Parts: sequence; C-alpha cells; structure tokens
Amino acid sequence: MCPGDCANFANVHDTRCARLSGACLEGKHETMTRKLRIAITLAFGALVLFTAASAFAQGSHIGDLTGNAKKGKDYYRRYCIGCHGVNGDGQGENAPYLDPKPRDFTLGTFKCRSTPTGSIPLDVDLFQTIKRGIDTTAMPAWSPLTDQQRADFVAYIKTFSSRFKDEKPDAPIAISPETPNTADSVKRGEVLYQETLKCVQCHGATGAGDGPAASTLRDNKDYPIVPYNFAERTRFKCGNTNEDLYRIFMTGLDGTPMPSFADYLKPDQAWDLVHYLRTLQLNYKPKHGTSDEQAAKRKPALRPPYDLANSRD
Ligand code: HEC
Ligand code: HEC
Repeated sequence: MCPGDCANFANVHDTRCARLSGACLEGKHETMTRKLRIAITLAFGALVLFTAASAFAQGSHIGDLTGNAKKGKDYYRRYCIGCHGVNGDGQGENAPYLDPKPRDFTLGTFKCRSTPTGSIPLDVDLFQTIKRGIDTTAMPAWSPLTDQQRADFVAYIKTFSSRFKDEKPDAPIAISPETPNTADSVKRGEVLYQETLKCVQCHGATGAGDGPAASTLRDNKDYPIVPYNFAERTRFKCGNTNEDLYRIFMTGLDGTPMPSFADYLKPDQAWDLVHYLRTLQLNYKPKHGTSDEQAAKRKPALRPPYDLANSRD
C-alpha cells in the first residue's frame, strides 16, 4: 500500500514514492492515471514556461533587481555607444584613440568575473564592473546612475552575444576565509610568485610589470597588453579588496594572457600569494586589512622613478 504522503502522485520528487509508485498504481489505477495526466500536463507547462524564459534570457537578475534590455538599449545609446559601438563590437567613434580598447561585447568574453576561466560572467559581475568602472582605463565608474539602470545595462549587454542564451555560467570560485597575514605566509607566497607559478615571467621580479615575457603579450583581439604593475598601482581593474585579489588570479582575466591559477593553488596558498602581492604594492595602505579605498584616495608617498615614465594614471 502507498504511505499517506505518497498517495498524491504529484509528489514525484520523493524517491520513496518513485520506488513505491508501481504498487500504488496497481491499487489505485483509476486515480493514478488521472493524476499522472495532471502531472504530465504540469511538467509540460513548466517546460513551455522554461523555454519562454530562455527566449527572454536578455533579462538580468541582480539581487532583487530585474534588468530590462529594452530600457538598457535606450540608456546604452546615450552613455556607452561612443566607445562600445552601436553593435556592441567595441568599435565606437572614440575607440581608435583608446588603449586598452573598449570591450567587444559580441564575444561574450569578460575580464572581471566571479566564475572560473572560460565561463560567462554572472549578471552581478557585469553589474559591479559598471558600478566600479575599470581603473586605469577609459571605462568610467558611472556613479550618477541608479542600480536599476545598471541592471538594465547588464540585460542589454547580454543581448550582444549568443553565449548568454546558449550557456549557463559556472558556479563562482569559492573564497575561503583569509588566513593570518604572517611573515611565513608572505615568504611562502614569494616562492609561489617567483618560482613555482612563474608570475615573475610577466610581472617581473619586483612586480613592476617588466618580466621577460612582458613586451611580447597580446590580448584576444591581438592588441598589445601590459602586465599589471604592482610596484606603482594600488587598485585593480576587478576590485580592490584582498578577496578581489584572490579572485583575480583564481579566475584569470579572460581575453588576456593573465591565466587562471585555480588548478595549481590550494586556498591557503592562494592567501599566501595575496599576502605576498600586497608587499609588492609599495603605495598600498590596507584599511582594516581588507579594503584600500582610503589608500587609493591618498597621493602615493613613494614612487620609484622608473614608474613615472610608464604611468597612465
Ligand atoms: C570612454 C569610453 C567608454 C565608455 C563611454 C564606456 N566604456 Fe565600457 N569599457 C571601456 C574600455 C576601454 C573597456 C575595456 C577596459 C579593459 O579591457 O581593461 C570597457 C569595458 C567594459 C566592460 C567589460 C568588463 C570586463 O569585465 O571585461 C563592460 C561590461 C562595460 N565596459 C560596460 C559599459 C557600459 C554599460 C557603458 C555605458 C554605461 C560603458 N561601458 C561605457 C570604455 C568605455
Ligand atoms: C603570461 C603572462 C602572465 C603571467 C604568467 C601572470 N600574469 Fe598577471 N597579468 C598579466 C597581464 C597581461 C595582466 C593585465 C591584464 C589587463 O590589464 O587586462 C595581468 C594582471 C594581473 C593582475 C591585475 C588584475 C586587475 O584586475 O587589474 C593581478 C592581480 C595579477 N595579474 C596577478 C598575477 C599572479 C599572482 C600571477 C602568478 C600566479 C600572474 N599574474 C601571472 C599577465 C600575466
């Protein structure tokens, strides 16, 4: 006999019911076929709804906000078109004068993500980029906009690439709690940077972005690209906290030679690397050990002479 809670055949998620359903069907054939029909109709309805939802995949969802692609399009034409172009291909009228070039949205490849390398970003990743701007580039921090407008931009940007219709983003990189920032941790990080993982090849021994491979690097559009200069800069393109820094080398900056090291680092080692990288940032002053918002606003006290020539700030 069917247990009470299994009598309702629609309760298909209960594996016990699935196992018992044969017995149930025998005893209650009439009701079951009717309930089966209802279940099938419901499942079909859900499928139709799901298909309809993916046809409108150009929406965006960031917390409680739902972005509207049509509104995003109107705003895009006002604020973004001059750089990213009418077709979202990065060929706006200002593009020839910019270095680095505005993103080509048709490729669906983004630098600042919480998702692993190769994955499309989450909506919230794009949202945060639009809110933050991209330090050291022409991409502004759109501060006067509302969060709703930013969500609408995200919805519209997603329509330029079919990747957002065809693919699902992978689960974000997990970030474990920060380990103590000790001299030993810094030392272990140094070994990872200088020897094991060869960051030094591109970023250079002192982190000034002048490693032996630095001058040969190009991005996915074949434009020359320079490694990050830790010695000079306090901020990153993809966020400024220690967690952001952790995320950057675990996800990689897709579309650039900056790879993901997620396959080579255990969480403790990733924190060791964060601690070491902070020591390379001569002008970095931690605020409560995590955010450098304050430090970023302060005028750098120390500025090695070799950085002045390369400065794009
Ligand atoms: C003055 C030029 C300019 C304008 C205007 C501009 N951008 Fe950008 N944007 C850039 C540049 C340059 C980059 C690439 C920076 C890089 O690759 O480091 C970029 C990159 C991006 C990225 C990619 C971030 C990533 O993770 O790869 C997004 C998203 C973006 N812009 C959204 C917008 C939106 C939305 C607007 C309008 C509200 C806008 N941009 C307006 C110059 C601009
Ligand atoms: C093959 C060359 C290469 C190697 C190896 C490399 N990087 Fe990078 N890295 C780059 C380039 C190029 C950029 C600049 C990307 C950009 O500006 O869009 C960069 C940028 C960065 C940034 C700044 C990202 C931001 O948001 O501004 C960090 C942090 C970083 N690298 C850390 C590391 C660490 C740590 C290692 C070693 C574990 C490493 N990199 C190895 C080429 C490399």
